[in-house]
Amino acid sequence: MNDFFEIVRLEDKHLASVAELEALCFAHPWTAEGLKTLTGEGGVGFAAVDERGKVISYAGMVIAADTGDITDVATHPDFRRRGISRCVMEELLRYAREKGLISVALDVRVSNSGAIALYEGLGFSIAGKRPRFYRTPPEDAYVMIKQL
Ligand SMILES: CC(C)(COP(=O)(O)OP(=O)(O)OC[C@H]1O[C@@H](n2cnc3c(N)ncnc32)[C@H](O)[C@@H]1OP(=O)(O)O)[C@@H](O)C(=O)NCCC(=O)NCCS
Repeated sequence: MNDFFEIVRLEDKHLASVAELEALCFAHPWTAEGLKTLTGEGGVGFAAVDERGKVISYAGMVIAADTGDITDVATHPDFRRRGISRCVMEELLRYAREKGLISVALDVRVSNSGAIALYEGLGFSIAGKRPRFYRTPPEDAYVMIKQL
């Protein structure tokens, strides 16, 4: 397995591949249709793609006024712990700064220590908790925010 990947802005042509990644990573995955939120007005995403254009990692965000909400972040299980999500998220945060957003927020399962470490490393802090936010399995969410 080689380590080639390129970070690109998410386009409609990537959405089927992102939906496959979602199905691998989440109990309630976004479908390709639902993911169109990220390529239309008010949405944005960045992806790491391999040499064949397959998405191996991505992060999406919806923008309302001057804040961004991260919708999902995922890396293919075969490519984890290589800094790929960090690269994708840094690109998303660079975009958020360029657009003049004042903050970016996300929800994460309280047990998801790997993702929490990723977000803390990027400057996000835990701002609150949403009780029983998730299903399958039921769990609280931390709300994490990064001021830009
Ligand atoms: C969480 C997830 C997106 C991380 O993707 P990744 O590409 O492996 O992350 P990176 O390699 O960029 O990690 C960057 C840093 O985050 C932290 N981190 C990431 N995964 C970690 C783990 N499993 N355990 C501990 N720390 C972790 C580390 O600090 C890591 O730096 P290091 O490897 O130099 O120690 C990936 O594990 C995943 O897709 N999980 C399933 C879906 C998910 O839970 N998404 C988040 C929903 S909120």
